[in-house]
Amino acid sequence: MGFKKRTHNCGELNISAIGKIVTLNGWVSRIRDLGGLYFIDLRDRYGITQLKINPDKKDVYDTSLKLRNECVISATGKVIKRESINRNIPTGEIEIDVDELQILNEADVLPFNVEEDVKASEELRLKYRYLDLRRRAMTKNLLIRNDVYFIVHDYYRRHNFVEVETPILMKSTPEGARDYLVPSRIHHGKFYALPQSPQTYKQILMVAGLDRYVQICKCFRDEDLRADRQPEFTQIDVEMSFVTQEDIFELSEGLFKEIWKKILNVDIKIPFNRFTYDEVINKYGTDKPDLRIKNDLTIKNLTDIFKNSNFNIFKSAIESNGFIAGIKLKTKEYKIEITRKIIDNYTEFVKKSGVGGLVYIKSDETGKLNSPILKYLSEEELKLISDLYEVQNGDVIFIVIGEKNKVLLSLGLLRNKIAEDFNLIDENDYEFVWITDFPLFKFNEEEMKFEGEHHPFTSPKDEHLSLLDSQDRKSLESIRAVCYDLVLNGNEIGSGSMRIYKPEIQRKVFKIIGLSEDEAEKKFGFLTEAFKYGAPPHGGIAFGFDRIIAILCGLKSIKDVIAFPKTVSATSLMDDCPNYVDERQLKELGIKIEKKK
Ligand code: AMO
Repeated sequence: MGFKKRTHNCGELNISAIGKIVTLNGWVSRIRDLGGLYFIDLRDRYGITQLKINPDKKDVYDTSLKLRNECVISATGKVIKRESINRNIPTGEIEIDVDELQILNEADVLPFNVEEDVKASEELRLKYRYLDLRRRAMTKNLLIRNDVYFIVHDYYRRHNFVEVETPILMKSTPEGARDYLVPSRIHHGKFYALPQSPQTYKQILMVAGLDRYVQICKCFRDEDLRADRQPEFTQIDVEMSFVTQEDIFELSEGLFKEIWKKILNVDIKIPFNRFTYDEVINKYGTDKPDLRIKNDLTIKNLTDIFKNSNFNIFKSAIESNGFIAGIKLKTKEYKIEITRKIIDNYTEFVKKSGVGGLVYIKSDETGKLNSPILKYLSEEELKLISDLYEVQNGDVIFIVIGEKNKVLLSLGLLRNKIAEDFNLIDENDYEFVWITDFPLFKFNEEEMKFEGEHHPFTSPKDEHLSLLDSQDRKSLESIRAVCYDLVLNGNEIGSGSMRIYKPEIQRKVFKIIGLSEDEAEKKFGFLTEAFKYGAPPHGGIAFGFDRIIAILCGLKSIKDVIAFPKTVSATSLMDDCPNYVDERQLKELGIKIEKKK
C-alpha cells in the first residue's frame, strides 16, 4: 500500500512557510482535544510539529478519532500561524491545518509513555529500547555521538592517520579482564577470543610501517559492570611510530579541544594539567582525581608531626609503621556547618575503606580549636598542623590513621563525598588532567605475583631499566613506566603508554609477571617475532568513547549513550541475550553443557 511521502520533516517548518501545502510523516506524540478542535503533536527525529484537526473536515476528523499515541501517520495540509505560540520549539509559531490524514501503521497499547519525563523503570526502558530511543533526550545522545565520530575521523585524517580495521575473532589480549570466547567449529576444542582491545594488532601495524593508526573500535571484556563499564564498549584507539609521550599528549589535547569547541562551544585550556601517579595518590588518594573540587581538601601527611605524640592511638599506629594524614575543609566562605551527626556519618564512611576511624580538629569562629583529642596534643603539634594547613577560623581538619594505602584511599573517597554533600563541584567545569609515571608492576597479594599495571608491552622509564634485573619486591615496585591516563572530572577517559620494542626488555618483563619463556612464546610469540624484523619505537593511547560522550551529554551512566546497552548482569533485555542455542549447534562445536550444581 502506498503512502503520501513527506515534503518536510517535523522540525523544519516555521513562519517563513506559512501558506505552503506540506506533507509530514511521523509518530503521534500527543493528542489534545480542546473543545471540538483536535491538536496532534507529530514527532520524528528532527522535531515536533502541531497538526490541527478541524471537525468540519469529516474524513480527517473521523480518521483522527482512531489515532493513539505512537501511531505512524501521514498528514497533508496548509501551514498556518498558530494562535498560542510555543517558544520552546523551533516550529512553535506554526501548525498544519490538516486536509488529508492517513494512518500508516497502528500502535498497540504502549508498555510506557514515550515522554521526556519518563516514569518507566530502567528494565522496561531497556526491554522496549526503540520506544525509549524515540525520546528527544535519548535521540540527542545518539546524535551527539554521531557528531563526535565525525570530528574524530576528520581530526585524525587531517593529521595523517590511517584507519585500519582489526579482527574481532582473535587470540586473547592481555588487558586484565576475562575474555569472551568464541568456539571454533572447524578446529575442535580451539577458541577465538573477542578483542579486549586491538593492542597487539596496532603494535604490529607499526612494525608494518603504517606509522599512524586510528580506529573507532569495539572492545569486549567480561568484567564486573558499573555505571561507566559495559561488557562491549567503544574506544578511539591510536598508535604512532617514532614519537614520544609528548607527541601523543599534544595530539590528544588538540582532539579534545576540537570536540569540546564543536559540541559544547567550550574553550578548554591546553596543555592539560599533569601530575605523576605518586603525586596524585599522595594528594588526592586516587589516580582519578576530580579537579573541579574547589575548597581545599587535598591530603597532607601528618605522620612526621605526630612522630613523638603522647596520644596513644597515634603513637602505637606510628610504631607499627602506620600512617596519619588529613584533609582540610574550609567551612566559612562555603557556608558549611559540620555537625556531630555529619562527623559520625563520615566516621562510618571512612571505616569502609579499612581504617580505624576519623578524628577532627575544628577551628571555631574565633579561631579557638576544639577536638576530642585536643588534650593529647602538644602546643608544638598544634602549631605545626596549623602552619601546614594554614588554618583559618572555621576550618575543619579530618584525620585518619592506619595503613598508608587505606588512609589515602579513605581520604580520597571522603574528599569526593564532602564535595558531593556540599555541592563543591561546578557541573559546567571540565578539568582534564594527565596522570603520568604509573608503576610498571603491581603486586597481586592474593596470587602473590606481579602483574602489569597497564599491559605487559608498556615500557619502563629509561632510567629504571636496570631495576628490571632486581629480585626484591620493593625495587620492582619502584619501577615507573612511560604510561599515562587521561582523567576528566574524576573519570578515566583514556589510557596508553610507550611500548617496549626491544625483545630482551620484553623477555624480562614477561619473566617478572611470571610468564615462562614457553608461555610467553605461546601467548605473544607472534608479537615478539614481529619485533625481530625491524620494530620502530612506538606508543599510543586508547580513549573510552562512551565515557567521553556521556560527559559531553552531562550523564553519569554510559548506558544512555549506547543504543543497545547491557544491564549490570551483562544481559540485553530487548533481544534476551545471552541465550541457549540449539543442541545441533552445540554438537557441531563439540560442546556439552554441564548442569549447574
Ligand atoms: P584501557 O584498558 O585502559 O587501555 O582502556 C582504554 C580506555 O577505555 C575505557 N574503558 C571502558 N569503557 C567502558 N567500559 C569498559 N568496560 C571499559 N574499559 C575501559 C576507559 C579506558 O581509559 N590497549 C590499551 C590502550 C593503549 O595502551 O593504547 C587499553 O585498552 O576510558
